[in-house]
Amino acid sequence: MTRALHALPDEKTLRGLLAELGHEARAQRFEVAPNPCVGAAVLAGGREIARGFHTVWGGPHAEVEALDAAARSGVPREDWDTLVITLEPCSSHGKTPPCTDRVLADGIRRVVVGELDPDPRHRGAGLELLRERGVEVVLLNVATPLSEVAPHFLAWTDPDRRRRPRPWVVAKWAQTRSGQLVPPEDFGEGRWISGPESLREVHRLRGRVDAIVTGVGTVLADDPRFTVRPPGDPSRPPRRVVLDSVLRTPPDARLFAPPGPGEGGGEVVILHQAGQGSARAPALEAAGARLVSVRCNEQDHVELRSVLSWLWDQGARRVLVEAGPTLLSRFLETRFVDQLRVYTGNVSGGRGDSMAEWLGRLDLRERLYREVADDSVLEAFLKSTR
Ligand SMILES: NC(=O)c1ccc[n+]([C@@H]2O[C@H](COP(=O)([O-])OP(=O)(O)OC[C@H]3O[C@@H](n4cnc5c(N)ncnc54)[C@H](OP(=O)(O)O)[C@@H]3O)[C@@H](O)[C@H]2O)c1
Repeated sequence: MTRALHALPDEKTLRGLLAELGHEARAQRFEVAPNPCVGAAVLAGGREIARGFHTVWGGPHAEVEALDAAARSGVPREDWDTLVITLEPCSSHGKTPPCTDRVLADGIRRVVVGELDPDPRHRGAGLELLRERGVEVVLLNVATPLSEVAPHFLAWTDPDRRRRPRPWVVAKWAQTRSGQLVPPEDFGEGRWISGPESLREVHRLRGRVDAIVTGVGTVLADDPRFTVRPPGDPSRPPRRVVLDSVLRTPPDARLFAPPGPGEGGGEVVILHQAGQGSARAPALEAAGARLVSVRCNEQDHVELRSVLSWLWDQGARRVLVEAGPTLLSRFLETRFVDQLRVYTGNVSGGRGDSMAEWLGRLDLRERLYREVADDSVLEAFLKSTR
């Protein structure tokens, strides 16, 4: 496809556009992490005709969203000439195909980029590939610095972290106003601390992670299923991982029941200490559990570093911890939590350990408070890298 290449808007205009795209992209930071927040725009004859953003982890990248929006704009494809992107396009397969393929397939002849990929394995590779294929590349370096647009992505691609890789950990819990995870006795059997709208959000979140990690304490107390149902995507349900050092999980736990109609339920894996609870192993395997022994120690029961290494080796890149105060506290102590989502319901009092003290002393970054019906929600990144 050959098409005219129009004059480029001046650098000040392009920097202004990139800054706007970067600002808008940041609004999705808690949805896309550990991916970077990215925005893109398609220009035709120097005029912006469409924008697109990366809005969901594992979902289409900003370039693809912008090119799809340009297709819907009604402006003839022959008139599109320039793609403006806050970050260098990817050129390798991840959850989605490489964006450079799409740029080339759509016949884009020029890309303007606001920042290079910080990962040394990819840095400059996308731009080089486009140049080789005859695309004009304009790098307005640090027009949209990642330190401002997506600092979490710098932590994710940090060489120290890549040396001993582990998945991005999102810790989520629901608490009463006093920070307790279990409602008061008189609250009413089967009622949740957070409301139905929050629960819908949790299903969406479960559909966007590779694994859900919990402790055997939660399995014994609540008999949860950890399934995904709409509005979450039940088609690719996350693996359900129980940390249970001595195999206390009951073989008739609801985790092993087939998911209901329209629901998704991932493989159930129990991570335990070798040689412990062996008599109970056959019944659990017969119920459908995969048993994997990992390193354990007195303080850690099932050692969290080994859990995360195992998850990484299984291909998990974003995992959700939905556990009680014992395991949550251990995850926070060991600084393996990257991101928090805390629902505070309209409930006073409660039982068990409070997480309030944790919230007071954590080094929270990029924090956001929002409301969902009667619940308030805290979203934050933590300084977890080590
Ligand atoms: N509101 C919420 O969001 C929410 C969410 C989940 C649970 N809950 C509530 O929390 C309560 C259960 O609390 P919990 O603290 O007992 O549950 P938990 O934190 O889910 O499970 C704790 C158990 O996990 C095992 N474990 C394995 N490795 C561990 C490690 N490295 N560090 C710590 N624990 C490890 C330990 O048992 P072993 O030593 O036997 O391995 C430990 O006793 C229930 O009442 C439930 O309703 C609330």
